[in-house]
Amino acid sequence: MARSRGDKEESEKYLGLLKLVQILSFLVVFVAGIIIGLSTSSHMNQYFTSQAVLLSSTNHFAAAPVTADFESDCNIVQQQQKQQQSGDQVGGCLSFGKFIHPTESNATHGMSDSELFWRASMVPYKDGYPFERTPKVAFMFLTRGPLPMLPLWERFFRGHDKLFSIYVHALPGYKLDVSQDSPFYARQIPSRKVGWGTVEMADAEKRLLANALLDFSNERFVLLSESCIPVYNFPTVYSYLIGSAHSFVDSYDDPSRYGRGRYSRKMRPEIRLFQWRKGSQWFEVQRKVAIYIVSDTKYLSIFRKYCKPACYPDEHYIPTYLNMFHGSLNANRSVTWVDWSMGGPHPATFGPENITESFIQSIRNNGTMCLYNDDQTSMCYLFARKFAPTALKPLLNLSAKVMEF
Ligand SMILES: *[C@@H]1O[C@H](CO)[C@@H](O)[C@H](O)[C@H]1NC(C)=O
Ligand SMILES: *[C@@H]1O[C@H](CO)[C@@H](O)[C@H](O)[C@H]1NC(C)=O
Ligand SMILES: *[C@@H]1O[C@H](CO)[C@@H](O)[C@H](O)[C@H]1NC(C)=O
Ligand SMILES: *[C@@H]1O[C@H](CO)[C@@H](O)[C@H](O)[C@H]1NC(C)=O
Ligand SMILES: *[C@@H]1O[C@H](CO)[C@@H](O)[C@H](O)[C@H]1NC(C)=O
Repeated sequence: MARSRGDKEESEKYLGLLKLVQILSFLVVFVAGIIIGLSTSSHMNQYFTSQAVLLSSTNHFAAAPVTADFESDCNIVQQQQKQQQSGDQVGGCLSFGKFIHPTESNATHGMSDSELFWRASMVPYKDGYPFERTPKVAFMFLTRGPLPMLPLWERFFRGHDKLFSIYVHALPGYKLDVSQDSPFYARQIPSRKVGWGTVEMADAEKRLLANALLDFSNERFVLLSESCIPVYNFPTVYSYLIGSAHSFVDSYDDPSRYGRGRYSRKMRPEIRLFQWRKGSQWFEVQRKVAIYIVSDTKYLSIFRKYCKPACYPDEHYIPTYLNMFHGSLNANRSVTWVDWSMGGPHPATFGPENITESFIQSIRNNGTMCLYNDDQTSMCYLFARKFAPTALKPLLNLSAKVMEF
C-alpha cells in the first residue's frame, strides 16, 4: 500500500512538473506564433505587391499581341470604373459584371478552343445566384457568311433586349456587315473553317455552345442556320423554351444504311450499335446539356477518328452522346421544321412563290401532336428551314399578320 502511495505521490509530482513544462512550452509557441504572424503579414503584403507588379509586367511583354489587346481593354474598363468611383464596381477585369457576362458587348476574345472549352465547362457549386438572373435564350447562328434572313430576325428580336444573346460563327475572315444598332452587331465569335460533313461541323457547334456558356444568364441554346426563320414571335418562343423540362435534340434509331449503316464497329467498346442515334443537327439544349456537350472530349474524339463520310458527325454525335448519357433530359425531337417529303439528300428549299399565309400556318400547326413537358400539344415547331434569300420579302410582308411580330 505504502509503496503504492509513494509511487502515486511521485507520479503526481511528476505530472505536476509535466503540466508546468506543457504550459511553458505552450506559452513559448504562442508568443513565437504571434511574432512570426506579425512579421510574415508585413512580408506578405510586400510579397503580393511585388508579385502584382511582376505579373502585370510579364503580361505586357510575354503575351501574344491579340491577348495584349484584350488586356488593355480590361485596363480601359478598370480606369473608367475608377473614375466612376462606384464602390463594388471597381476591379476592372475582376469586376463581377465582366465575370458573369464577359462577352456581352463584343463576342470576340483571345482564348483558344481548349481554353474556351475548359472555361465554359465550369459550373458553380453553390445553389442560387448572387445577382438577379433573368434567364436568356442564346441564338447561335452557324453560317458560311451572310445572314439573308437578318431583317426578319431583327424584327423578331426587337424590344426583347434583356432576354436573348446572339452568337454568329461565320467563316474566318468574314465580317458580318450590320449597323451598330442591330442586335447582331459585334456578335461574331472567333471561328475556324468548317468542311461540309466533317467533324469540323461538330467542333463549330461546340465552339458556339462554349461561347454562349460564358454568359451565366444564358439558359437555353438554339442552333440556327442562315436559311432558318422563326415561325412564332419572341415571347412565345421564349416561354416555350424556358418553360421546357427537356432539350429538343432530334434523336432516333434509323435501321437503314443512312442510320445504323454509318456506325463503325471500330467505335466499340465505348459506343455500341444499340446506342447509335441519328438526328437533325439543328438542336436546342438547356444549359446543363450544353455543359455536358462542351465538356466531352472522349466521345467526340471517337467520332473524329471513325465517323467520316458517309458518316456525318453533325447528324450522329450529339444524338448518340445524349442517348448514351442524358436521354432523360431530351424530348428527342427538334423544334426546327424541315421538309424532307421531296426525297433526295437535301430537304426542300422554299422560294418567294411558296410563301403564303396558309403555308406558314401549316408549319405553326399542321395537325400533328407532340409531347411538351409530358402533355400533348399541336405546337411542335418554333423555327423552320430552308428558305431561299429571295423568300425574305414575302416573309417580311407576312410576319406581322401570321407570325405576330
Ligand atoms: C470587338 O473586339 C475586337 C478586339 O478588341 C475588335 O478588334 C473588334 O473591332 C470589336 N468589334 C466590334 C464590332 O466592335
Ligand atoms: C428520349 O429518349 C430517351 C432515351 O435516349 C428516353 O430515356 C427519354 O425518356 C426520351 N424522352 C422523352 C420525352 O420521351
Ligand atoms: C414552290 O412553289 C413552286 C411553284 O408553285 C413549286 O413548283 C414548288 O414545288 C414549291 N416548292 C416547294 C418546296 O414546295
Ligand atoms: C406535319 O409536319 C411533320 C414534320 O414535317 C410531318 O412529318 C407530318 O407529316 C406533317 N403532318 C401533316 C398532317 O402534314
Ligand atoms: C404583301 O401582302 C399583301 C396582302 O397582305 C399583298 O397584297 C401584297 O402583294 C404583298 N406584297 C408583297 C411584296 O408580297
